[in-house]
Formats: sequence, structure tokens, C-alpha cells
Amino acid sequence: MKRNLISVLLIGTLFCSCSSRTSWQSYSGDKEIERKVDSVLSLMTLEEKIGQMTQFTSFGDITGPQVSEDIEPYLRKGLVGSIFNAVTTDGIRKLQDMALSESRLKIPVLFGYDVVHGFKTIFPMPLAESCSWDLERIEKSASIAAAETAAAGIKWTFAPMVDIARDPRWGRVMEGAGEDPYLGSRIAEARVRGFQGNSWQALKSPDKILACAKHFVAYGAAEAGRDYNIADVSERTLRDLYFPPFQAAHKAGVGTFMTAFNEISGVPCTASQYLFTDILRDEWNFNGFVVTDYTAINELVPHGVARDEKQAGELAAHAGVDMDMTGSVYLKHLKSSVEEGKVPVAVIDNAVRRILEMKFLLGLFDDPYAGLDPEREKNTILKPEFLQAAREMAARSAVLLKNENDLLPITKDKKCTIALIGPMVKNKESMNGEWAGQGNRQQSVSLFEGVTEKYERSNVRFLYAPGCDLTTDNEQGFAEALAVARQADIVLFAGGEDFNWSGEAACRTDIKLPGAQQALLKQLKKTGKPIVLILFNGRPLDLSWEDGNVNAILEAWYPGTMGGHAVADIIAGDYNPSGRLTLSFPRNVGQIPVYYNHKNTGRPASDDTYSDYRSFYLDEKNAPLYPFGYGLSYTTFEIGNMQLDKTEIKKGEPLAVTAEIRNTGDRDGEQVVQLYVRDIVGSVSRPVKELKRFAKIFLKKGEKQTIRFELDSDDLAFHDIDMRYTSEPGEFKIWIADSSDDERLEKTFRLIE
Ligand code: NOJ
Repeated sequence: MKRNLISVLLIGTLFCSCSSRTSWQSYSGDKEIERKVDSVLSLMTLEEKIGQMTQFTSFGDITGPQVSEDIEPYLRKGLVGSIFNAVTTDGIRKLQDMALSESRLKIPVLFGYDVVHGFKTIFPMPLAESCSWDLERIEKSASIAAAETAAAGIKWTFAPMVDIARDPRWGRVMEGAGEDPYLGSRIAEARVRGFQGNSWQALKSPDKILACAKHFVAYGAAEAGRDYNIADVSERTLRDLYFPPFQAAHKAGVGTFMTAFNEISGVPCTASQYLFTDILRDEWNFNGFVVTDYTAINELVPHGVARDEKQAGELAAHAGVDMDMTGSVYLKHLKSSVEEGKVPVAVIDNAVRRILEMKFLLGLFDDPYAGLDPEREKNTILKPEFLQAAREMAARSAVLLKNENDLLPITKDKKCTIALIGPMVKNKESMNGEWAGQGNRQQSVSLFEGVTEKYERSNVRFLYAPGCDLTTDNEQGFAEALAVARQADIVLFAGGEDFNWSGEAACRTDIKLPGAQQALLKQLKKTGKPIVLILFNGRPLDLSWEDGNVNAILEAWYPGTMGGHAVADIIAGDYNPSGRLTLSFPRNVGQIPVYYNHKNTGRPASDDTYSDYRSFYLDEKNAPLYPFGYGLSYTTFEIGNMQLDKTEIKKGEPLAVTAEIRNTGDRDGEQVVQLYVRDIVGSVSRPVKELKRFAKIFLKKGEKQTIRFELDSDDLAFHDIDMRYTSEPGEFKIWIADSSDDERLEKTFRLIE
């Protein structure tokens, strides 16, 4: 009991101390590195400097004879700052050899790759991990990814993606941490720490890599949930909603930022001086470097803000964008722009300085191969403890959405026949999701493999029929599936989305289960057998029909390499599900965007039923089907006795909030205790609720624990009517809850001057 309380307090302490960790601010004082950078810079020609601002892609595995002919001449001339998508130790060595043996100044190339949720050991997709609300494990998952990546000689990942997202039509919701800026910020910090370590000194370690906060900014606000679409977002919403996870990543020391593809209010991010100079450099003092997203400078032409690529390059350089990802605009045009006086040399020098600084910090000038060694790689990747961590993370990321009559778990002592039906039962391909690094899809554990191993020596028997595939309307397998279902006691239906149906450029206007899956479920329902639906997918789906008609639903997301084992752990009750949603599930697409921290409007209604001339739909409720923070367990918890240590606080003074939480069921389990606040009157309207603290607590059955959170006025700050970041005196509501829609424990307090 004591141990748990301490860990809760520690979590609180961790939050408070994050901003004071060693960060890039302290790095800026490193005169030794600055001196080295200046001495390299003084030797460089303009062409070589622009080369450092250029990133090439090698289009995948370049081992063997197919070393890209495009890169080679540039490498030999020392005109390549970075390469991404080179993923084998041999290939990387070959490319680095070329840069080092033949180029004039022998500046090492920085190798990068999209290590989003694992390199070889694939963890659950980031949205799934966020549902664990487990910062320690999220950090560990990133640190394992870093160790595997660094062992392959790659020292830079394009992650974490910290875009707040409110629209599940947008396929990239899978890569982020959901809809909440507070949780998103804590997760951003955890991921940066996991990749980079706690300080810039850690970057040199053989198991750490440089991280990249992306995509700056409001990429998740893409209009109509269509990827790359425009965003029209107010400065206040940028500052209060979209910036915070980036600021948190920055404070945790992230070394690079990536531009976003979208425009905001008419200005494409990649051309935005406001974002990359005024905010990032001048306001936040960011000292790392900025890379574009893939060909984002070239795209300034179709955006309609540059007449040609040369002008596009000038806009990006002026904005403060240091490295051009694959577009070759800087490479082709920046030299003449400088010679014509359109871009000052100082702009180039500053960009190159930042890039070289990172290379020094990574230790590349001392060891350009970054410890590259196929043996080391072999001994690092897919270690048993990494696989175990991935299995535990996948189990902790799954969210139990429904469990009528405790249908789950199906413990191993039961005697029953289970019909395994659905396109995801034996599917291995999609388990890793879209951004699956170098994870071997065929190595991922399928649900079938997971459950057959789990129930090996038991009286649980399995029958199997796929019934349909993931995407088409083909119903030919229905008859077989129905026949199998009729012979069973329980139907376990595994469905979801093909891995290509969520992720980049994978947006949908209909977010129901794709293809024939729902039609098959409707037929299965007619058999009268209880149905458990296990979902493997990348976004919140419209599960209105399923919620009303199947008996249990487990959202397992794309769970990664060990997915099948993790889900089997949950089905058998060896792990009691503890995931809580971080992105609301709408009742239908018409409700989108639907999120918990919305505004009240001038015409709200007191409950969620229609009344005339109020902010409602005629045909649907306002509330989502499953809200942010929601998730079930195999046990039950009661939270009570909420206390505030005062009802009034002055600015800077702490407010302590305590409550008792008890495991009232008959299994051990974890609860995510959530603290929300509402600022009732502000100089601008405030959200109806905002998450301010949380803690994930393990309680044995029957166990009770007191939880304590501390807040102060900084936690109540927002951008006021004059765009100042401040907290305003007045009345606040505060809740301790088990979900964003839980208002049973409510108190009020006042903030006074
Ligand atoms: C485009 C994506 O938007 C970005 O997130 C990714 O890092 C780059 N491609 C490189 O793969």
C-alpha cells in the first residue's frame, strides 16, 4: 500500500521537475562545442554549407550494389548533411565511408529513420501506448526503440509525433497521444527522454538517439480529417491546445523539430517565420535544428505561396528551416539565392551551425559510425526482455470498452468451445500498424498463436473460420463462419483495419468496421451465441451498432510484435485490462470533432437530451459513445472522500487534493485516477473540463489507498484576452474521476490575487 502511495507522489514530483531538467538551454552554454563548430564552419564553402542543410532518402535498404546513384556524387563531394531510410549496418557503413574517405572536410553524415513505435521490436502504436497512461513504460518503450536503432548506426528518429488530434477520420491519429494537451505533453516528455536520455550529454551514449518533435504545428487540425489539408486555427488555440506538447518536448530537450505539411490561416508551416523564428527561437529559445517534412519546401509552390522552387527555398530559409528533407530545393537553388542577395549568408551559417552542433553532441565527429557493428546489432535487437516489455505494453494499452455479465475473462479453468472468427484471427501483417519501422511483420504474434499457446493445456477448445477479409464486401466465408459459431459456446470475433487503413494518407469518411465485418457480426448475432469483439485498428471507430449488439468489446489497437500474446493475456484474465481512452469514440462521423475539453457555448443544455434552440443535434446526442478517459476493468473501483486542503488559494500557493480509492471487486487491478478542473469565468471562454493530473494505481482486491495531487495557479494558466499566459482569479470546479464524463466527486475552490 505504502509503495503505491509513494509511486503516486513520485509521479507528481516527476511532473513538477520536468521543466527543470538539464535541457538544451544548458547546452547552449557549451563554449567548447561552439568553438569546434565555428572552426569547421570557417573551413566550409557555401556549397558545402548548403550540403549540410540537405537530407537525402536512400529509399530503403541500400545494402549491396544498389547504392543510390543520386546520393553518391554528392556524398563524395561532401554535400550531404543527412540520409534517411538507410537501415542496414552494411549500407550505412558504405555511405558513411564515402562521405569520410572522399569528401574534402570529412563531415560525418547523420542517419535518420522513422522509428515511431519500435525499430525491430514493435511496440503498440503511439495512440495505443497513450491509452496506458503509463509514463514510465512509454519512456521505456522509446528507450528500447532507441537502443535497437542506435545499434544499427542510426542516430536520429523522426519521433515523437506530438500532434493533438480530435478527428478520427484523420489516419494519423494513430501516431499521437490523443486529444488532450496535458496528457500529450507528459507523453511527449517521456518519449523524448526515452529516445535521447535525460540530458544532452546522454546523446553520445551508444543506446540513445536524437529525437524530433513533429509536425510543427496543428497538422492534426487538418480540415475534414483529410491528410495534408489546411488548418485554420486561432493563435489562442495554437497556444493553448497545439503548442503545449511541443513546448514540453522542447523543455525535455528534444534536439530537432519537423515542419508540418499544412498551412495555418494561409501560411504553410514550412514558410512560417512566426512558427520557426518568432515562437521556436525567440520565444522558446530552441537551440536544436529544424527539418522539413518530406518535400515540404517544394510543396510551397502548389500551396500557392511561391512561384517556383527557388522562391520556396528562400521562404523556408527565411522562416528558420534548417534542413530540407529529400526535396533538394536548398541543394539546387539556395546558392544562387545567396549570391543574388536574397538570402543572407548569416541565415545559412546559423542553420549549419545548429546542424553541426547536433552532430558534435551525438559524438559523430569522434565516432562517425556511432559504434556501428553488425554483431552488436544482432545482440541488441529483439532481446527477450524487449519482447517482454512489448508484450506488457500491449496488454496495458488495450481498452476494455464493454463487458456485459463479465463475459471476459475466459479463464483457463473453464471448459468451453470458442469460435475464433474474423479477418484478424490469423492476420500477422496488420498487427504492427503502419509505422512499423524494421519490424518483421511475419514475426508478429497473431491472436490465433497467442490464444492457442495460452490455452494449450486447458479444456478450452478452439474452432476457426475467417468469415471475411478486412476490406472487401465479400460474404463468401459467412456460411462457414456461422456453422463454426453454432458449434461453439462463445464467439470471439477479431476484426479491425488493415494496417494501411490508418496512418499517413489513410483517411476515411466512414469509420465503421470496414468491408463485410459488421454484416458478418449481424449474422453471428442471430446465432444467439455471446460475442466478444476484439479490435485491431488505428483510430476510434464508429462502434454504435457493435456497442448495442455484441456482449464484450476489447480495443487492442495495432499492438505490435507481441500483440497476440498480450491480447491472450487479457482474454484469459492473466492481465486485468487497465487502458483508458485518450481520444473520444464518436457515435457517428457526423459528431466529429467530438472531444471532452470542448467549450460550453452560449446555449448549452443541462443534460444530454435535445431541447429546442440549444446546441444539439436533432438525431443524435452530443456526448461521444466512449469518452476520453473511459475504460473498464475486470474489477471495480470506488473513489470517494474527496478533500481539498483549502477552498481558496493565492497565486503560487499549492492546493492539495486527496481522495480514497478502493478496489471493490474480486481481482487485483489498476485504475487511472483523473483530476479535472473547470475555470468557470474567464476573460475568454474556457473548456468545460481540463485534465490537470492523473495517476495509475495498482490495488489488490479489497485494498484501499489515499491518493494526493497537488496543483497551483500555474496549472490554471491559459492565454487570456490579451494573449498573456496567466491564471485569472475566480471560481473553479474540480473533479476526481475515473473518466472525463464522471462528475460524481466535485468540489469548488477560488483563486485569489
Ligand atoms: C512524411 C511524414 O509526414 C513524416 O512524419 C515522416 O517523418 C516523413 N515522411 C519521413 O518518412
